[in-house]
Formats: sequence, structure tokens, C-alpha cells
Amino acid sequence: MRVAILTGGGDCPGLNSIIRGLVMAGIKLYDYEFIGFLDGWAGPIKNLTMPLDIETVRDKYDTGGTLLGTSRTNPMKDPSLITKIKENLKADSIDVLVTMGGDDTLGVATQLAEMGVQTIGVPKTIDNDLSATDYTFGFDTAVSIATEAIDRLHTTARSHHRALIVEVMGRHSGWIALDSGIAGGADYILLPERDTELDDLCASVKNEYGEGKKNYAIIVASEGAKFAQMSEIPLQDKSLDAFGHVKLGGIGKLVAEAIEHETGIETRYVRLGHTQRGGPPTARDRVLSTRYGIHAAAMIHRGEYGMMAALKGNEIVSVPLAAATDETKVVGEEWFPILEILKA
Ligand code: F6P
Repeated sequence: MRVAILTGGGDCPGLNSIIRGLVMAGIKLYDYEFIGFLDGWAGPIKNLTMPLDIETVRDKYDTGGTLLGTSRTNPMKDPSLITKIKENLKADSIDVLVTMGGDDTLGVATQLAEMGVQTIGVPKTIDNDLSATDYTFGFDTAVSIATEAIDRLHTTARSHHRALIVEVMGRHSGWIALDSGIAGGADYILLPERDTELDDLCASVKNEYGEGKKNYAIIVASEGAKFAQMSEIPLQDKSLDAFGHVKLGGIGKLVAEAIEHETGIETRYVRLGHTQRGGPPTARDRVLSTRYGIHAAAMIHRGEYGMMAALKGNEIVSVPLAAATDETKVVGEEWFPILEILKA
């Protein structure tokens, strides 16, 4: 059995641990051969490959990024690219294609599976926004990095008596903001799931100032959040990526300007950006990724094509690939009362 692996979309801490788990289990338990396609869907389109064996992956348990490279190449834009992928899979004698990605990459994998390509998926995104799995790997790392940054911002904000805004990733799901904001003791958290009233935010910030108060404030803003009075989420620019996604970013700056203008409190902002995706995965993400990889090898053995690995409770299970893209997992209303308790 010849198995090809590709990683698509934004990179994510834990990808190498999955590749390692899959290759080690596949070779040791089932005697499979592996190759890697490079740079996401560009790999099978242009037939860019690298050999994968136990020696290649053995020490990749703790490295960030993806040893296969990645891209946001979208083969669904042009039917001739799908033909190319099928031709190259045949030319490389590939029996099974394992795709590791978020909703875009797994959306392509779902369509390829419907066309008869033997495909297995592994859900990947720091945003934790895939509904078919309880947690995606990489999320824990992103939250840890954001929490560490918030911890550091407390001391500088306290020293200067400033309000400090931290903008975090997450697209249209506020999970990174929610978890890092709670873990980092934020005074206010802005989520994409509910619009923020400027008056409410400014009242909270002002509550932190005065005799006997802490006299600084930490605000976490998810990149997909906005004020109620804004018609659209702020964007870095108007360009779209190959899957038609906008480039989010800028809410942190707007929040900082609004607070300073409305309250007179000196305010700064920090955009954590790709720092959240870089560097080594946390221990939890290394373990989760390794389990995903080993499960993917067993899925191939059982012929579970058109399926993907998913975490349900503490079990890794197999669910239909299409479920990954069914709906975006967002922060539910049950969290809102908790945020009200924790805000200033
Ligand atoms: O989907 C993961 C993610 O990191 C989002 O949180 C963020 O909006 C986006 O990717 C950034 O994408 P890029 O790496 O293309 O700038």
C-alpha cells in the first residue's frame, strides 16, 4: 500500500507530530510506503514529492510548522487541476491520500472522495472552528502563546496605568480569544459571536481606574469581532485568498483608539498575528497529534475512506469527511454569562 500525505492551508503546531505518528504506525504495523506531497494542493498538482520514512520523521515530535510545506492553493478553481491531481496520484501509484487541513483543505478532500479518490482527513486549525471534532490540534498551543503574551502585558500595563488591547486570531470563531482571555485574566473579551457595545466596554475599562483599583486594563479582541455600530469587520486590506477568504485584522487598533478617545485613558494595542501559529506545539498538542496520526494509519488499514479522524471526549473516532465542513463551530451563548461575571 502506498500512502501520500499532504498538509494544506495555514500551518499549525502539531502537523509534524501527526506525520510522525502516521508514518511510524503505518510502517511498523502495516508495512505501508509513504511519500509526502509538498506545499499543500500544489504538491499533487505539480507532482512535488519527498520520500517519508521512519528516519525522516523520528525526531519531528516537537517541531512547529510542517516539514511538507503548505499553501492555500485551491484546485477546485479549475477542473483541469483535479484531472492533474488524479493523473499524478496514478503516476505515483498512490493508493490513499491523507490530507491534513482546515475546512478549505478538507472541503477539497471531501470532493475528491466523492470523485472516487481514496482519501482520509485529519482536522487542523489553531482556530478550533471545525464542528466535527471537540478540539483541533494547534488550538492549545495558540491559546498558550496568547496567554503567555497576556501575562506579560499585565506587568507593563500595570506599570504605565494603561489599557492594553491584545488582538488574537480565530477568524469568525472566538475560541482563542475566549480561552486566552479567561486564562490571562482579561478585563473584557470581544468575540465575533456577539457585537460589542462601545459604552459597555468603556464603562468596564473606567471601572478599573480610581482609588484602590488596579488602574490598568487588559482587553482581548478576537480578529473577527466588531462594535455594534460598525457594519463590517475590519480587514487588513480588501484582497481575498484562493478560497475567497478576507484577511481579517485591525479591530485591536480600532478598540484602542476608541477607548483612548472616549475615556482619556492612555491605551496601546498588540496584534499577536502569526506568533500564535509558530514554534513548537504544547505537550497536549503533541500527544493529540500523535494520536490523530496513529488513528489515521488504522483508518487506512480499515479502509475508512471519505472519513476523518476526530476527537470526541477523550476518544479519537472516525467521522465522515463532509462533517468537517458542515458548520463552523462558534462560541455558544452559554459562555456569555461567564464573560459578564469576569469583566470589570
Ligand atoms: O485559519 C487559521 C488562521 O491562522 C486564522 O486564524 C487567520 O485569520 C488566518 O489563518 C491567517 O491566514 P494567513 O496565514 O494566510 O495570513
